[in-house]
This record gives sequence, C-alpha cells and structure tokens, in this order.
Amino acid sequence: MSQVLITPSILSADFAKLQEEVDSIAPYSDWLQVDVMDGHFVPNLSFGAPVMKAIKTDLPLDVHLMVTNPAERIDEFVEAGASHVTFHAEAVPGRANQEHLVKVIRAKGCTAGIAINPESHHDLIQTMDIDLVLCMTVHPGKGGQQFLESVLPKIKEIRLQHPDVMIQVDGGINAETGKLCREAGANNLVAGSYIFKSKDRKKAIEALRG
Ligand code: DX5
Repeated sequence: MSQVLITPSILSADFAKLQEEVDSIAPYSDWLQVDVMDGHFVPNLSFGAPVMKAIKTDLPLDVHLMVTNPAERIDEFVEAGASHVTFHAEAVPGRANQEHLVKVIRAKGCTAGIAINPESHHDLIQTMDIDLVLCMTVHPGKGGQQFLESVLPKIKEIRLQHPDVMIQVDGGINAETGKLCREAGANNLVAGSYIFKSKDRKKAIEALRG
C-alpha cells in the first residue's frame, strides 16, 4: 500500500490568520482539507468557496462537502482551485446518483471521493469506481470530537474489498488513533485539532506518518 498522506483540516485553524496557519503546516503536509458545512446536512456552518480561493498554497485542496446538495456546490469549488472533491453518500441517495456525481467531478478535472458516516454501512460503495473513500471516524459537523473505534472494522473491510482505493479517515485523528487507522488500511489521515492545537505542528504531522 502506498505511503500515508497527511491532510490537515483548516477547520481548527485560527481563521483570523488563515494564510499564516496554512503556511505553518504546508511544508510538512500532503493535502489540505477544506471542511464545507452548510448548516443543514450538519448543524454548523463553516465557510464557502471565497474563503478557499483566498488561500495561497501548492498543496492539493481537498474539499469535504458536508452539504445537502453537493451537486450544486461543485462548480464553485472547482473554480476556487479544488483538486479533490468528496461528497457524502448520505446526501446523495441511490447508487446511480452517486456514480453520476463521481463522473461530474472527474469531468471537471478533480478526483472524486465519497464519505460515509460512522453509522452508514460500507456496502453502499461496493464495486464502486471511486478515487477515495472517506470513512468518518466522528459524526460530521465539528472538529475536536472523540474518535469512534467502532469504525475500524469498516476500514479493514473496505481495504480488503478495494485494495487500491485511497481510504481517508477524518475525526479525532491523533498519533494513537492515526496508528490504529493506518494498521486497519487507511492511507490518508485528516487531522484538525491534533495538528493546529499542537505546540510543534511539524512534530504532530510526523507523528501521524508513523
Ligand atoms: C467533522 C470534520 C472534522 C475535521 C477534523 O465534521 O470533518 O473531522 O475535519 O476534526 P478533528 O479536530 O477531530 O481532527
């Protein structure tokens, strides 16, 4: 399995100095995750494409759409510089609709990911042609939550069924939980509070690589 990618989430950064915050972690990171929350699919409202557009970075921008109708949001984030777009399976009912959205995202030059919440069964992505599966290890909606170990068997199962797909995890990821996820087969770790609340962000990111 390929080397593990580390994807800091800006959700836990200091928004009053967002560019400085991104600059502080960019040299040690692989992707940068932008957590888009619409206050409907999840209770909180975070930020939209204009905020992402303002960020200057060479890191691939990974847009995590925690929104009710992701199809309506793709263009603005592609225009704002997205490299990867992940939508929630729970927001796009039906396999055909999900596969259509994957095609739309890819046609715009981005890789496509599907996110599954802790309570969602992974059989919905079986044999799906997808670039990334995001296994949520918390209930989406805010940073700094407790990691749900109950998701680990799902990660193992997905890795068995999809040896080559990128498996991303997100929520409560730190050195300890990141190790559990890597061992289960995850190869892209999203972390917000663990990185941005650390005194030594470089060290925190290196700890996630194992
Ligand atoms: C959940 C968000 C968070 C965020 C990272 O809706 O997606 O998982 O990215 O949060 P922590 O602080 O748990 O790493």
